[in-house]
Amino acid sequence: MQVFQHQVLVVGAGLAGLRAAIEAAQKYDVAVISRVHPVRSHSVSAQGGINASLKNHADGKDDSWEKHAFDTVKGSDYLADQDAAIIMAQDAPGCVYEMEHWGTLFSRFPDGRIAQRPFGGAGFPRTCYAADRTGHHLLHTLYEQSLKHQINVYEERLVTNIATENNRCHGLVALNMISGELELYAAPVVIVATGGSGRIYGNSTNALINTGSGAAAAYRAGAQLEDMEFIQFHPTTLLGTNILISEAARGEGGYLLNKDNERFMKKYMPQAMELGPRDIVARSIQTEIDEGRGFPGDYVHLDLRHLGEKKILELLPGIRLLAMDFAGVDPIHEPIPIQPGQHYTMGGIATSNDGHTRVQGLLAAGEAACVSVHGANRLGGNSLLDTLVFGRRSGSEAMRYLNENNPQPDHKLLQNFWEKEEKRIQTLLAGEGQEDYKELRHKMTQTLTHKVGVFRQEKELKEAVDILIGLRKRYPNVKIKNSSRAYNLELINALELEGMLNSAETVALGALNRTESRGSHSRIDFEKRDDGNWLRHTMAAYTEEGPEMSTKDVTITKFQPQERKY
Ligand code: FUM
Repeated sequence: MQVFQHQVLVVGAGLAGLRAAIEAAQKYDVAVISRVHPVRSHSVSAQGGINASLKNHADGKDDSWEKHAFDTVKGSDYLADQDAAIIMAQDAPGCVYEMEHWGTLFSRFPDGRIAQRPFGGAGFPRTCYAADRTGHHLLHTLYEQSLKHQINVYEERLVTNIATENNRCHGLVALNMISGELELYAAPVVIVATGGSGRIYGNSTNALINTGSGAAAAYRAGAQLEDMEFIQFHPTTLLGTNILISEAARGEGGYLLNKDNERFMKKYMPQAMELGPRDIVARSIQTEIDEGRGFPGDYVHLDLRHLGEKKILELLPGIRLLAMDFAGVDPIHEPIPIQPGQHYTMGGIATSNDGHTRVQGLLAAGEAACVSVHGANRLGGNSLLDTLVFGRRSGSEAMRYLNENNPQPDHKLLQNFWEKEEKRIQTLLAGEGQEDYKELRHKMTQTLTHKVGVFRQEKELKEAVDILIGLRKRYPNVKIKNSSRAYNLELINALELEGMLNSAETVALGALNRTESRGSHSRIDFEKRDDGNWLRHTMAAYTEEGPEMSTKDVTITKFQPQERKY
């Protein structure tokens, strides 16, 4: 058994993970564990931009952090915790300038200042960008910083479980995917930053690695999951593959057209048109499709042709290539076929504003976490910001926790924990189960896609919950055929499936319980928002018999809930 020891272990090497690691590395020995090489983390595929009230755009002179916080809270359908949203909006300009000073190649206005574009649900053009490859540029910048700080990265490791006892974190066990050996990592602080769990759906913009297994490991280790029913469906994903076609395309002036060539958003949001918040734009597109005004194959058109070749090549080069490679259309000459698709997990591991979960030494940041700044619906451009603001804060909180408590991992406990995990792996490799893991996974993704989608209702949600309970019960009897240890993808997939099923059940059960419509959670049997009963966060605690559900107050400070109009 290989044993590694560090003071802080960050799980996930995307923007939140690397930002946390860089912060904590000022004082402590930090290592990052990642499923992939850091620059292949899913943050790399973020396209449209990062929000900050820099006031660089001619139409953005009156912007401010207060207006950014307000737009965020309104966009969240008042479910965001307002103290957290305010921290994020206040920290945003500093965060963007820090990345600029570390070397991010932002797009520029002619006067040299960082360029900003309009994005959905925002009162001002405040989204800073690097063409339509913003995540790529930010991630490479942070990776360079991680090299400068000599942060150790263990890549191609899958965390199987996090070791906690008496509400305290001691480290974790990870599968070295290359050798197939289980490794033990002792650390008094673990920060989970493994991104979203989009792949529990069948129609997601997320990378194949976004299974949510890190968040599920934290959940099994005693942290709670919060607001998991709030799944963001991005309005414009490429027909068939559901690859993201950035909101930047609409920010730069792209139109949505139905099969009658009608700019249908005028019926739904005549003021905001294509630049309404994502939940409403996604529902509008889905309504057009459901009512027969989409094209055969369930899609509408995103038309960029009027923007002209120069603008498309300069500001939207990435999505042009994606449309050409994966849909066979060149947006300079043809409209892009798009449909809504799962994009973002608004919920996640419940944390304080400093990233701490209810388990001492177990922290989380980024999409894996729920601080909560996005509430029931995230605004485009706030995700990259969340990763940097709360990644840094969790790194800083890790330092505070270590300074004040000097916690030490319990090595005997860890040894026993590793042995239990090793036994579990050996049982899987013995291949004596009866259940095909691929069938279980397929059933889960199809259930969520078709029964817990853009529009929801009790009958289908109940069916989904029942199916997912059944899959959870079948999981311990799962079978894999490949018994070798080296790069065994069946083993990796089967291990990840456990976490996916954990998350999926909280999504469906949260959606069934929430008898209202709020943000991305749209119940056709409960069409109205119900602040009296449901201005509350959904909390899920792990038990072997399924999630134990409860609710928690929303923090309301500056902005009183009101009807959301665009
Ligand atoms: O559409 C986009 O570029 C996505 C941005 C985001 O999710 O923040």
